[in-house]
Amino acid sequence: MKKQKVLVTGGTGFIGAALVKKLVDLGYPVRVFDNNFRGKNTRLEGYLGKLDLIEGDIRDEKKVMDAVKGMDIVYHLAFINGTRHFYEIPEQVLDVGVRGALNTLKATLEYKPARYILASSSEVYQTPTKVPTDEKERIFLDDVTNPRYSYAGGKIISELLTLNYLRKSTTEPVIFRPHNVFGPDMGWEHVIPELLVKLGKSTNGFKSRKTKIEIQGTGEETRAFCYVDSAVEQIVLCSEKGAAGEIYHIGEMNEISILQLIEMIGKVLGIDIETVPTPLRKGGTPRRCPDLAKIKSLGYKQPISFEEGLKRTVDWYRKESK
Ligand SMILES: NC(=O)c1ccc[n+]([C@@H]2O[C@H](COP(=O)([O-])OP(=O)(O)OC[C@H]3O[C@@H](n4cnc5c(N)ncnc54)[C@H](O)[C@@H]3O)[C@@H](O)[C@H]2O)c1
Repeated sequence: MKKQKVLVTGGTGFIGAALVKKLVDLGYPVRVFDNNFRGKNTRLEGYLGKLDLIEGDIRDEKKVMDAVKGMDIVYHLAFINGTRHFYEIPEQVLDVGVRGALNTLKATLEYKPARYILASSSEVYQTPTKVPTDEKERIFLDDVTNPRYSYAGGKIISELLTLNYLRKSTTEPVIFRPHNVFGPDMGWEHVIPELLVKLGKSTNGFKSRKTKIEIQGTGEETRAFCYVDSAVEQIVLCSEKGAAGEIYHIGEMNEISILQLIEMIGKVLGIDIETVPTPLRKGGTPRRCPDLAKIKSLGYKQPISFEEGLKRTVDWYRKESK
């Protein structure tokens, strides 16, 4: 039985809930902090009796202080995720991002947990100069007038605050940058769920065997999707074995185009899909794929294949979007 007490902010979110369940299974006593802006307690079904659940806003300094008190490891994941939100409520994205980092770090300086593990994002690179991208890549924002960068900006500020606030502290910071994590119940504002919703509508509830859908961009854009169980495995590795002050990529290295992704989804569903390109929203990047050498050096081995993860995800959304 591991004794280190763990706080997970954003712990009823998509990745947070999967992480919480893994940590409980590993024997850590876990406390969850979330305001359920995008999280839901149902994600923790079967685990609610085994953990301490605090409903609160990460911008509430007093509540965050109380939540961090007595903890040995703080995982800070609370953030406003979902691409639509970056464009529609950028001020809230920044408010939660910056105040969330400041409050959790202030509490960390006060109560001195052994480790503070920050969730950042691949979005900090905007368009990377090299793909696959390693952690030494420069981070970059090319247009502060584009609301999309509220998210990446909030992550960059959080990284700066984490490394500098904890520089003289006994608490060891570790930062992880996830790249396109997916899985069942990941929310609706991401590439895979958005495609599945469109497909559900255009096939009359997945009944027709042939369809045509509009996609953002030409579909030549690439991503490397990482199933949530693999991401959680890597996040726990960062916390248990990652070096203090280091940054680790989280993801998989299977770079595929959106057109290839659509073809694979079509195969799972048994639907022949034709795509119609539309203009890409400003701020997206044409290619993304992490170099995972650093996390692999900690012993990471992929626990589940991309194909199996995609099948589980498609099955979940097919049932839910009817
Ligand atoms: N999913 C990905 O592919 C991905 C990629 C890069 C980075 N990340 C980062 O990983 C973390 C987890 O992402 P996710 O996909 O689980 O997103 P998510 O939206 O499901 O989880 C974030 C959680 O933060 C909570 N939250 C939002 N505002 C809050 C507030 N004011 N107070 C308290 N809690 C609040 C939400 O309710 C949600 O449960 C986030 O920090 C996200 O930015 C995710």
